[in-house]
Amino acid sequence: MEDFVFIRPTKEYEQQAYEYIQEFYDYNSPINGVSGLHRYIGNYDGWLKKLEEDRIRTTVDEKVPAETFFLVRKSDNKLLGIIKIRLILNDSLLECGGNIGYGIRPTERRKGYSSYQLYCALKFCKEKGLEKVLLTCDKDNIGSAKTIQNNCGVLENEIINSTDGKVMQRYWINVEEAFEKGKEKYENKYSRTI
Ligand SMILES: CC(C)(COP(=O)(O)OP(=O)(O)OC[C@H]1O[C@@H](n2cnc3c(N)ncnc32)[C@H](O)[C@@H]1OP(=O)(O)O)[C@@H](O)C(=O)NCCC(=O)NCCS
Repeated sequence: MEDFVFIRPTKEYEQQAYEYIQEFYDYNSPINGVSGLHRYIGNYDGWLKKLEEDRIRTTVDEKVPAETFFLVRKSDNKLLGIIKIRLILNDSLLECGGNIGYGIRPTERRKGYSSYQLYCALKFCKEKGLEKVLLTCDKDNIGSAKTIQNNCGVLENEIINSTDGKVMQRYWINVEEAFEKGKEKYENKYSRTI
C-alpha cells in the first residue's frame, strides 16, 4: 500500500514547488496543469495568495471559483503532482479547459499517479456536490486521455482548439460513478490523508 497526502499548497512546499517546475523545463515537458505556478517563480507567497483568491471567489466571469491541490508521496514527502479543480464553468471553459487540469512531474510519470490524483480530485468534487465534470485534452496527449478514461470519462466530441489548431477531446465524467468505480480500483492500492 502506497501512502499519499492530497493537500492544498502550503508554505512548507515552497522549495519543492520550484524544483517541481524546474523538472518540467529540464525534461522539456509542456508546462500544463500547474495552476499558474511557473508564473510565480520567486513569488511563492503571491501564488498562495492567488490560490486563496481562486478558492474564495464567488463570481463567475473570466475567472471562476477554483481549488488547487498537491499530491504528495508520504514515504519521501515528495511533491508528485498538481491538480486544479474549477467548480463552475464559464463559456470559454465549457468549450476548452473544462473543470479539471493537472500534471505529474516528469520523473514520476507512467506510475499511475495521474489517474489516482484525478480520482482524489473527483472525491473532492463529490464532497462539493458536483454531479458531472468536463475534462478536455489534446487528442495526441495519450497519458491525459487515458487518465480521464481510467476515471470513467465519456468522450462527448472532438473539436479544433481555436488557439493552437490542434484536435481536442472533450470528456464528461459522472462524479458518483467515477467515485464508486475508483474506490474499487484505488482504495486497496493507495491510501491518503487530506
Ligand atoms: C498527462 C500526464 C498528467 C500523465 O501522467 P502519468 O502519471 O504518466 O499518468 P498515469 O501514470 O496515470 O497513466 C495513465 C495511462 O496513460 C498511459 N500513459 C501515460 N503517459 C503516456 C505517454 N506519454 N504515452 C502513452 N501512454 C501514456 C499510462 O501508461 C497509463 O496507461 P494505462 O492506464 O493503460 O496503464 C503527464 O504526462 C503530464 O503531467 N503531462 C504534462 C501536463 C499535461 O499534459 N497535463 C494534462 C493536460 S490536459
